[in-house]
Parts: sequence; C-alpha cells; structure tokens
Amino acid sequence: MDKPKVVLGVSGGIAAYKACELLRRLTESGHDVRVVPTESALQFVGEATWAALSGHPARTQVWGDVHEVPHVRIGQEADLVVVAPATADLLAKAAHGLAGDLLTNTLLTARCPVVFAPAMHTEMWEHPATQENVATLRRRGAVVVEPAVGRLTGVDTGKGRLPEPEELFEVCRRVLARGAAATAADLAGRHVVISAGGTREPLDPVRYLGNRSSGKQGYALARTAVARGARVTLVAANTGLPDPAGADVVRVGTAVQLREAVLKAAADADAVVMAAAVADFRPARYAEGKIKKREGQEPEPVALVRNPDVLAELSADRARPGQVVVGFAAETDDVLANGRAKLARKGCDLLVVNEVGETRTFGAEDTEAVVLAADGTETPVPHGPKEALADTVWDLVAARLGRG
Ligand SMILES: Cc1cc2nc3c(=O)[nH]c(=O)nc-3n(C[C@H](O)[C@H](O)[C@H](O)COP(=O)(O)O)c2cc1C
Repeated sequence: MDKPKVVLGVSGGIAAYKACELLRRLTESGHDVRVVPTESALQFVGEATWAALSGHPARTQVWGDVHEVPHVRIGQEADLVVVAPATADLLAKAAHGLAGDLLTNTLLTARCPVVFAPAMHTEMWEHPATQENVATLRRRGAVVVEPAVGRLTGVDTGKGRLPEPEELFEVCRRVLARGAAATAADLAGRHVVISAGGTREPLDPVRYLGNRSSGKQGYALARTAVARGARVTLVAANTGLPDPAGADVVRVGTAVQLREAVLKAAADADAVVMAAAVADFRPARYAEGKIKKREGQEPEPVALVRNPDVLAELSADRARPGQVVVGFAAETDDVLANGRAKLARKGCDLLVVNEVGETRTFGAEDTEAVVLAADGTETPVPHGPKEALADTVWDLVAARLGRG
C-alpha cells in the first residue's frame, strides 16, 4: 500500500524548530512527507534539515522542477496538509487566497483536509485581523488548532505557543484516520466541554477518596473533537496526561470544583460530555491535620455526604436551547438495564454505558460500550481504541446539533 502523503508547511515563526520533531514522528510512523517551507521559515531552520529529514527537496518557490508542475501537483496529491507553525502572515495569505510561493499555491490546490497550527505573540493572535482570518479558514472547513498558553519568544508568556509536536502529531493522525470525512470539519464553530479523570475527595491533608479513572477516554474525546474543528474546553480531574493540542485545559480536584468549572464553561457550549468519574459522596468532615493512628483505639468511621449530581443538573438546566448533554455510566453488573434506568433518571440526551472492573476500561487503551439515546436508539461500539468510541459520540452529537 502507498504511504499516506502529508505536506508539512512551515512558515517563519520561532517555533519552526518544533516542526522538525513533528516531521520525524510523521515519517517514522509511515507517512511520506514533503516539507514546503516559506522563505522566512528558512531563517529559522535551513533547507538541509528539511530535505534530510523528509527525503525530499524542500523548495520554497514554484520555479524549481517546473516540468513536474509542483505548484499544483504537491497539493493535488496530498492526503493531508498541515502547516506548523502557521504565522499570522501565512494565515492572512491563506484566508485571502494569495499564491505568491509554493506553500500558498499548495494550499489552493489541496482538496484534502488542511490543519493549521498557529503560533505567534498573544497580541498578534488576538488582533481582529488574525481572528477574522482564522474564522474564515474554519468556515471553509480547515482545522485551526488553538495555540497553547505558555512561554513565547523572549521573556513573554501568554496564548500563542505552538502545541507540543507529539500532540500535533495526534491531531494529524486523527484527521488522517477520518479520511475524506475530515474535509468538512463537522464540529467547526462549536464549543464543546468535556470532563475527564476522577475526582478526589480529601479526608485530611494527605488522604482522599478517589477512583480508578485515568482520564484517557475524556482526553480521547478532546483530541477527536479538536480534529473535527471544535473549540474544546477540557475539565481535567487529577489526570497525569499531556494537554491535548488545541484544548483549553482547566484542572480541578474535587467534585465541587469540577461542577463549578463545568457549569462555567457550559454557559456558551453546544455540547457537554461528562466522561469524568465524579465521586457520588465525599467525607462529611475534613480533618485539618493528618488523622493519627492511636494506640489501642479503632479509627473513627468515615461519614459521607452526597456530592452534587452534575450530570442531572446540566440536563435539567440547559445553559442554552439545543445544548446536547452526554453522560457516561460505568457499571459492574446488569450493565444495560442500569444504563437505561440512569439515562431516564438523569435526563441527558446520550449515555455511554460500559462495563468496568479493576483492570477493565479504567486506565486501558481500549474499550467497548453501548451508546443509549433518549430517543430509544442504541449504538453498540465494538471493542477498540477509546478514540473510536469518542468519534461515535461526536457523530451522534453532531447529528443532534444539525437537527437543532
Ligand atoms: C525572531 C522572530 C520570530 C518570529 N516569530 C513569529 C511567530 O512566532 N509567529 C508569527 O506569526 N510571526 C513571527 N515572526 C514574524 C514573521 O517571521 C514575519 O511575519 C514573516 O514575514 C512571516 O513570513 P511567512 O509567513 O512567509 O513565513 C517572527 C520574526 C522574527 C524575526
């Protein structure tokens, strides 16, 4: 089988060096990558590096190898074009259809999915000119990955940093996996909120009641939503996973903190997916000092009180009309019957029901589930990667948003 053809466009930002690592990941995972830098990009990383790492010449202009008509052919043949970093200048040119060099020509001839990973100073990113260019590109179906917050060139920090190459690689992998369907980013213009991980309810400064949720399913939902063009807020409870590229990550600890963060983000959300394992109960009393073991004394029993039911609350008080609310039910027995009862009780639109155990689902890479819908339909998702289940959830969410 032919290797998937990827065009890696690199424009002239300080983060061009990170594109070398993205290129390496793409080639090592079996992709045929053509690097198309801009002239400015070569100020940061030279032609020799791109050519040696990709195994192809890395031209900036349309005038080399003219007999092969590269200004048309490279774009036409691509299965994916990813521009990382995308400068403010490159985004402007792409939004306006300029074609002054090989990269901008390639963007006009490509009919495959296109991913832009902008990186620039916060002021440049927030400027209305850049924001309007980004909105134009998204409206046309491109995936524009939100920059990360962090250290920028020089001493500045803020929004505008290129996400880490391994996470950009994940976006490329997801977009390629969706194939032709990815040319229309079906969640573009949508804001989705996802909770992930497991809450921890403190007993004293060193101990907590927790659960086995790793956060992997919630992170898979975030990654797949970014690859489908959504603006993603990920409310992460006690996960040790790297931030998915393009997602706005809010870290929380307890169920009460998770509720606050989710309700705040849900105010303008089109969909909320509650994949986190939120503790039903928390200790009634928090000991300010570490609870001590006392000679000859049994410990005090731990009294529990109920935590707020975030899923029921979100379902009952939709922040906006047509908002789609999705819950997860982890069951150990009578999985489907318990799931149906929970769907009715909570009032959400979709409930993903899966069987869990000490080594089953929690922390695993794979899963198996049935998605129950309030309209009575059931969508079984066979054993496979958590991303496959995530894509099924987004298919069902997108269908409901489309009807709204
Ligand atoms: C040191 C340095 C770092 C720069 N970093 C960025 C950047 O991160 N993002 C950006 O949009 N422009 C950045 N610029 C400005 C661009 O290089 C400039 O707009 C250039 O014309 C972009 O050309 P291109 O879009 O054709 O690659 C930087 C310039 C310098 C000198």
